[in-house]
Amino acid sequence: MYYSLIYLLLFLVQTNLSAKYSRVCYFTNWAVHRTMKEARLLPEDIPADLCTHIFYAFASIGSLTLQAKHPNDLGEYQGEKPLYPRIMKLKEKNPELKIVISCGGWGNSGEFDSISASESSRETFSKNALAFCRQHGFDGVDLDWEFPSSNHRENFGLLVKTMHKVFKKEAKKTNKERLIIGLAVGAGKLQVKQGYDVPVLCHYVDMVNVMTYDLYGSWTNKVGHHSALFHRRGEKGLEKELNTNYSMHLWIKAGCPRDRLLIGIPGYGRAFIATGGDPIKAYGQPGGVSSISSPYLGESGLLAFYEICKNELKEGFKRYWDDDHQISISYKDGTWIGYDDPESVRNKCEYVKQEGLGGAMIWALDMDDASGKFCRKNRKKRLRRFPLINAMKEVFETNEQTTQQSTTPLPTSTLSNETILLNEEFKNLLDQMFDEASSSSKFVPTYRILSFLLILLSLI
Ligand SMILES: *[C@@H]1O[C@H](CO)[C@@H](O)[C@H](O)[C@H]1NC(C)=O
Ligand SMILES: *[C@@H]1O[C@H](CO)[C@@H](O)[C@H](O)[C@H]1NC(C)=O
Repeated sequence: MYYSLIYLLLFLVQTNLSAKYSRVCYFTNWAVHRTMKEARLLPEDIPADLCTHIFYAFASIGSLTLQAKHPNDLGEYQGEKPLYPRIMKLKEKNPELKIVISCGGWGNSGEFDSISASESSRETFSKNALAFCRQHGFDGVDLDWEFPSSNHRENFGLLVKTMHKVFKKEAKKTNKERLIIGLAVGAGKLQVKQGYDVPVLCHYVDMVNVMTYDLYGSWTNKVGHHSALFHRRGEKGLEKELNTNYSMHLWIKAGCPRDRLLIGIPGYGRAFIATGGDPIKAYGQPGGVSSISSPYLGESGLLAFYEICKNELKEGFKRYWDDDHQISISYKDGTWIGYDDPESVRNKCEYVKQEGLGGAMIWALDMDDASGKFCRKNRKKRLRRFPLINAMKEVFETNEQTTQQSTTPLPTSTLSNETILLNEEFKNLLDQMFDEASSSSKFVPTYRILSFLLILLSLI
């Protein structure tokens, strides 16, 4: 009887030993060539185990195929050797790492219309995209269609269906792992309703990265946080919808399985002009976008996380925490910046675990403090590289580590001989299951089941 009970429990444990959260990090090929040296990020600067997936932005889509877009993707440019082979080298250090080619993006999504228009164009694109990936070593394709309209809704679903079919067929034939299909999708209610055939898309793709950022900006004409986790007390109507939690539930309600959904985390802040001394009271002020800029990104009103860090250490900006939104704000003399820092990232990743989602995506690698120098308080402190993405990693790996620690041998002193025997068999079984654990990402709180199991064992 004990055995059957234990087998049942083992079954439960197994389904979540495999609990694994994806960390999708966008790599931008233009960041290699930024004017300021400190702002550049090379493929060699990325620790191979930092992310589970690197999405390489962007390839272009034209003539029903993927094409390298930047002169530096495949050629030598401004003294830099070609980037595709350099990023692929990370897989030598971490064979688990998946590197996916991203196509489309803001202002470059027009071609999606033609590739998805007919079954023959969908099939030709799928086959060409496959050949492109195999040629350069990519593990999949990420479609950043910004944004499909209601006219595209059905064809977009059919496009991923065909891609899935073509990729699956090839994998079977060649005995290779099937290419991954990823999506970057809109977070707004209207976008989701109009442009996405959610059940079909989520059925055929491996991951749906919801762009839960840029929710406030010049278009909103008032001060607000562009990537809040929850709504604030007192928010009503549309305002109550402009946060990560709302968008994720939108996708869930529309029929997307939770473990396929990833939240989007911005590695940057958006700045507004505000008045008054208390930034928490500035929400909703009719404010323009601040024109604050920096030599690093050179974009008006938009600052990388590392620049905000530096401003707080050296320029008198002060960090505030919004308890309702669960997010950070940086403020000085009327410049109000809504951004994510390691604490808000940790919060968001705990949310991912609580909600049983698939993981988190960050835009982009080069906006985190890659060297650790920008956020270092003084020269004596140790450099902490990629603090945002490492916060993500720590939270997501905590559960996995708990699982493995819990299965180390039980203290034998209090156990009878029979239990020890049982315990050994049990350990072998567990080992076997660790080996078999697939990458499916079902979610149950592992530690609870395991501690229950331990209690049971000690009772036998
Ligand atoms: C998250 O969103 C869901 C659905 O919109 C809502 O029911 C829930 O209260 C939200 N959670 C929080 C903490 O705001
Ligand atoms: C366990 O079994 C061994 C032999 O199989 C025996 O010598 C030993 O006394 C037993 N210990 C207990 C605690 O029963």
